[in-house]
Amino acid sequence: MSDETRPLDNAAGSAAGNAAGGAVRTAAVIPAAGRGVRLGPGAPKALRALSGTPMLVHAVRAMAASRAVSLVVVVAPPEGAAEVKSLLADHALPERTDFVVVPGGESRQESVRLGLEVLPAGIDIVLVHDAARPLVPVDTVDAVIEAVRDGALAVVPALPLADTVKEVVPSTDGSPEPVVATPSRAKLRAVQTPQGFDRATLVRAHEAVTEDVTDDAGMVEHLGHQVVLVPGHEEAFKVTRPLDLVLAEAVLARRRANDGF
Ligand code: CTP
Ligand code: MG
Repeated sequence: MSDETRPLDNAAGSAAGNAAGGAVRTAAVIPAAGRGVRLGPGAPKALRALSGTPMLVHAVRAMAASRAVSLVVVVAPPEGAAEVKSLLADHALPERTDFVVVPGGESRQESVRLGLEVLPAGIDIVLVHDAARPLVPVDTVDAVIEAVRDGALAVVPALPLADTVKEVVPSTDGSPEPVVATPSRAKLRAVQTPQGFDRATLVRAHEAVTEDVTDDAGMVEHLGHQVVLVPGHEEAFKVTRPLDLVLAEAVLARRRANDGF
């Protein structure tokens, strides 16, 4: 393993607990290496604050909230691995979870692959979760893990669409785009993360599939395996554009208000 891909040491200092117990079974890989171009100028998206805490820390906590998750691998912006490591050390995280930070790649796909490369032996279920979905509830995480435990090779949380979707011929010059088809909305789902996988299947998919994909389950489909959906959650939305930051702050404010009662 080269210096560049060598995992940084456990940030929370709890590796011994799992080494002793040998109970490491489910890991979460969090791709967080994107720049966040659609969010506008500023720090890399995963490092932007939501309610005073970096988005990535929210996402890490969301994965570590599941008792089944014993290891979280954060794939950091290529130049930001040291910064991410100290962020994790500075924020309270569950003691029972191990944390590893590795630098990411040019594409999301490459970042996920770099995260998979550092998984230790003994992990047989892998979640892949976007740092950009910081507010996914633990019940959604647990539902995904449970479906993989029940035998599915690839599990995706998903929701019905609110909008009707049109297939078009994309225009590059701003002219009106001709519609090619209108797929039946009832048969469409918007997919979220964490997506859960049998580890060996996901690793094979990343070795075999070179086409550009926007989700990991799509790679497993390419291999010819069945992917199944479980109910997603509206709070698992992806922070993509500036308005999504407003929504995320509102969700956090609502949680704080509810916690007060
Ligand atoms: N991601 C990554 N490595 C990349 C590109 C993306 O780890 N080279 C991660 C992002 O950090 C994010 C997730 O993949 O957590 C989903 O990607 P997206 O929402 O598209 O984030 P960005 O690529 O950062 O945003 P944009 O496309 O607007 O630049
Ligand atoms: Mg992107």
